[in-house]
Amino acid sequence: MILVTGGAGFIGANFVLDWLAHSDEPVINLDKLTYAGNRENLASLAGDPRHLFVRGDIGDKALTGRLLAEHRPRAIVNLAAESHVDRSIHGPEDFIQTNIVGTFHLLEAARDYWSALADDARTAFRFLHVSTDEVYGSLGKDDDAFSETHRHAPNSPYSASKAASDHLVRAYHHTYGLPVLTTNCSNNYGPYHFPEKLIPLMIVNALAGKPLPVYGDGQQIRDWLYVKDHCSAIRRVLAAGRPGETYNVGGWNEKPNLEIVHTVCALLDELRPRADGQAYRQQIAYVADRPGHDRRYAIDARKIESELGWRPAETFATGIRKTVQWYLDHQDWVRNVQSGAYRDWVAKNYGERQS
Ligand code: NAD
Ligand code: DAU
Repeated sequence: MILVTGGAGFIGANFVLDWLAHSDEPVINLDKLTYAGNRENLASLAGDPRHLFVRGDIGDKALTGRLLAEHRPRAIVNLAAESHVDRSIHGPEDFIQTNIVGTFHLLEAARDYWSALADDARTAFRFLHVSTDEVYGSLGKDDDAFSETHRHAPNSPYSASKAASDHLVRAYHHTYGLPVLTTNCSNNYGPYHFPEKLIPLMIVNALAGKPLPVYGDGQQIRDWLYVKDHCSAIRRVLAAGRPGETYNVGGWNEKPNLEIVHTVCALLDELRPRADGQAYRQQIAYVADRPGHDRRYAIDARKIESELGWRPAETFATGIRKTVQWYLDHQDWVRNVQSGAYRDWVAKNYGERQS
């Protein structure tokens, strides 16, 4: 079996569902269930003996040590993290605790477990760390896309905490020989995306008749990857990646934020037109920019393609249509995640940004 951390979050839940759709190898899913963790994402696995959910913290070494000793997984896939840049600006401490200290404790538990394995199991074991393109900082308009050798230059507390975790993972390979793999991925989108992030926020706000808050001039560029393509990339790296290596994962879909918002609006105009016949894009509101906002991310995904034969299956046009349709079909899920804590966050983040 494998141990997945953060498997109740956006990418984690997609990964667990995808994993069990492709294999019968069981998953222990360790998740703290922060505001971003949601067991409803895993509802389709209720009663499935291949999925064991454990509520807990990756920083709790006694717990992770017990789980490893009891279940003897052949791999750990570490997705647990604080993941939202805006929240890291309002309050960085949780990011330091989970992304740096938590990853450190998980690495320690993994090292203890791995070093006591028999030779064959020790050789086969993998610690796969899921990271982000944000560790590389911001690109200029004409700069080459991020390759795996691009220098780390994180600009937000979130990206700095992820860069620190990448360094720890790298050091555990170099110093102790722990067979680690790191993936640095671009912006994901798709089902179960928590509506604090750009695409799901635009969909749920549009449908609720609320403003669509675009930071600054809306010309910041992200490289969008459909989440199921990210899941297939993780599976591929786990199966065939070379220990100690880093693989960049991206969708070859660089787009400015404003274009993303226009695309979401156009799809909603088609699939769920406004009752008054007006266009959703009328709801766009330019608001104060994110402090330290990175201008452009772009992933050079040639290494994972040439070494491991992975390429994304979705184009942005196909992936965004599926995503908008998923939100239209899962309005109960949307209502359930918009708790009091969610409303408090929206008030805190957007209340101070004047249109
Ligand atoms: P998310 O915020 O949706 O989910 C994070 C999950 O981790 C939640 O279920 C949460 O409960 C859990 N968690 C948080 N702290 C924990 C702890 N201390 N112990 C155990 N569980 C804990 O995040 P996501 O968007 O699914 O991102 C998953 C991973 O992928 C993160 O490491 C993130 O940095 C990385 N990543 C995300 C994107 C993206 O576009 N979302 C892109 C590249 C990389
Ligand atoms: O690049 C990978 C990263 O992508 C991951 O590591 C992060 O975990 C993930 O959250 C994401 O970070 P971003 O900051 O790029 O995602 P977010 O959805 O928050 O914002 C995308 C862009 O949209 C960014 O330029 C900010 C802008 N934005 C965002 C929100 C929430 C807006 O203009 N308005 C908004 O309300």
